[in-house]
Amino acid sequence: MNRTYIILGAASGIAKAVSRSLASRGHDLILAGRSQEELNLLAKDLETRHQVQARILVFDASCRAEVTGLLEASTRLNDAQLVDGVILAYGVMFPQPETEANLDLLALTLEVNLVSSVLVLQAFANAFVTRGRGVIVGISSVAGDRGRGSNYHYGCSKAGLSAFLDGLRHRLHDKGVHVCTVKPGFVATPMTDGLVNPNSPLCARPDQVARDILRAIDRKTGRIYTLWVWRWIMMIIRSVPEFLFLRTKL
Ligand SMILES: NC(=O)c1ccc[n+]([C@@H]2O[C@H](COP(=O)([O-])OP(=O)(O)OC[C@H]3O[C@@H](n4cnc5c(N)ncnc54)[C@H](OP(=O)(O)O)[C@@H]3O)[C@@H](O)[C@H]2O)c1
Repeated sequence: MNRTYIILGAASGIAKAVSRSLASRGHDLILAGRSQEELNLLAKDLETRHQVQARILVFDASCRAEVTGLLEASTRLNDAQLVDGVILAYGVMFPQPETEANLDLLALTLEVNLVSSVLVLQAFANAFVTRGRGVIVGISSVAGDRGRGSNYHYGCSKAGLSAFLDGLRHRLHDKGVHVCTVKPGFVATPMTDGLVNPNSPLCARPDQVARDILRAIDRKTGRIYTLWVWRWIMMIIRSVPEFLFLRTKL
């Protein structure tokens, strides 16, 4: 059945792959992000390749008013119909020494990755509950599973997002709303450019992540790690006793 999904952060490496996969199944899209020019190019490409409708919505996650206006703006754009699903795919990750030294940058990390994400997903969740149907996919990160000295600012924003999604899923499991937490490990996108080896077997391509996300939507899975091996890696990392963990340089 043809659905309409809004992709928040549609120009992100992972989001582009998810949009292509959804469009290839015939779903219409609302591409939301910061750059009107880039969104227009993406929308044109998807419409031409897949004969779907791809509309665009410009917003900045660091602007509270724009974030809280997304639900209404997307409904207006979708011929006054609430969208069928929302996929949250934006985020920032600054080098940790920079967020340690610059508290405004740390605040921006929390505002974009946590505060705005929670606010926008809560707004869509409320509307989906009223209708009795909807799909919410939040891209969090394995970095939220255990704080590490080298990346705990980003990690704490993602831990907060994961806890929010867990609670939302718990509350809505009998309300017809599917809530999925996506925890990628390493993914070869602009965010990790120069930080991870894209050829490493632990590093996913965005299309692999998209495939896992679409499977989770189909199966109504609550929480996925992608690549799957990260579930076991994080299980081991979480189980390392604190006195040993403190001696590592992770
Ligand atoms: N890559 C990885 O290894 C990895 C691992 C775990 C989790 N994740 C998560 O996956 C999600 C997608 O990231 P990605 O890997 O695809 O990275 P990416 O290509 O760098 O995408 C990040 C996106 O976030 C958008 N963004 C940043 N600040 C924003 C703001 N203030 N308002 C609106 N949009 C904003 C960027 O918009 P512009 O295009 O306008 O710059 C960009 O499209 C993120 O939540 C990230 O934390 C990634």
